[in-house]
Amino acid sequence: MYKPREDSYLLSSALAVYLKDKDRRINILDMGSGSGIQAETCIKLRFKNVKAADIDEEAIKTLRKKKFKAIKSNLFSDIKEKFDLIIFNPPYLPEHKYDREKDTTGGKEGYETIVRFLKQAKKHLNKNGAILLLFSSFSKPSIIKREAKKLGYNIKLLAKKRIFFEKLYVCLLSVPIL
Ligand SMILES: C[S@@+](CC[C@H](N)C(=O)[O-])C[C@H]1O[C@@H](n2cnc3c(N)ncnc32)[C@H](O)[C@@H]1O
Repeated sequence: MYKPREDSYLLSSALAVYLKDKDRRINILDMGSGSGIQAETCIKLRFKNVKAADIDEEAIKTLRKKKFKAIKSNLFSDIKEKFDLIIFNPPYLPEHKYDREKDTTGGKEGYETIVRFLKQAKKHLNKNGAILLLFSSFSKPSIIKREAKKLGYNIKLLAKKRIFFEKLYVCLLSVPIL
């Protein structure tokens, strides 16, 4: 199971800022929750309706031990509800011969899981709903942005951090209401 790292902490601090003025009753999903750090941030800020999802059985066991509402799901395969906020710190690195972990590898190029997620997430957002998504300069950000725009999302950069040769980005994605 993924132990929180720089990416987790960057997303968690951007999340706390984003949630500052939000209604404590909004419906939140922490996708790829792992240790549950993002869900925990929401609960510490007294948000009441927080659900965690992960593909990994060990993560689900850990999340349930921590008393989170956790569901085992491959992205949205086992999720029917809609949410006001979906948080995702995805596996975002390109495949590497020494690292094909599902915690970190987002596909051959790095962005594949993210694009699959964005395609599915649209159907799981309430009106005015938003996504907080983390990715890296190694995930081919221009392709992520292009695909997000094609899917009709507005995309806004909320936070970024440089770590040696890599940059991490946290973006807010929303679907404009017509
Ligand atoms: C980079 S870790 C992030 C963990 C935690 N949210 C954090 O911020 O530290 C990515 C997480 O996504 C999960 N994951 C990978 N592919 C997934 C999928 N297809 N559906 C759901 N979860 C997935 C992994 O098991 C892992 O827990």
